[in-house]
Amino acid sequence: MAKASVFFEDIKVTVNVPAGTRIIEISEKVGSAITYGCREGDCGTCMMKVTDGWNNLTEPSVLEDKILRDNFAGKHNRLACQAQVLGGAISVRPV
Ligand code: FES
Repeated sequence: MAKASVFFEDIKVTVNVPAGTRIIEISEKVGSAITYGCREGDCGTCMMKVTDGWNNLTEPSVLEDKILRDNFAGKHNRLACQAQVLGGAISVRPV
């Protein structure tokens, strides 16, 4: 299975995970300040900034796009509970 490395800028920790892992599953374990509420792509609490490797994440769903717009998301912001890693290197930080 493909592996991805995710760098959490706020705590300067890199984690190697299998493809398909959602960012929220890792951020919770390593103690990043990316927080969450519903974990279902509904509340917008888990919004994060993807600073590198944007294309190494799954595309936002229609629902995620809507929540991002509703929360005035900036460019390259994603919901950590929805974005799944595909492979390669990704860097994220809390917004
Ligand atoms: S935790 Fe609610 S949208 Fe991600």
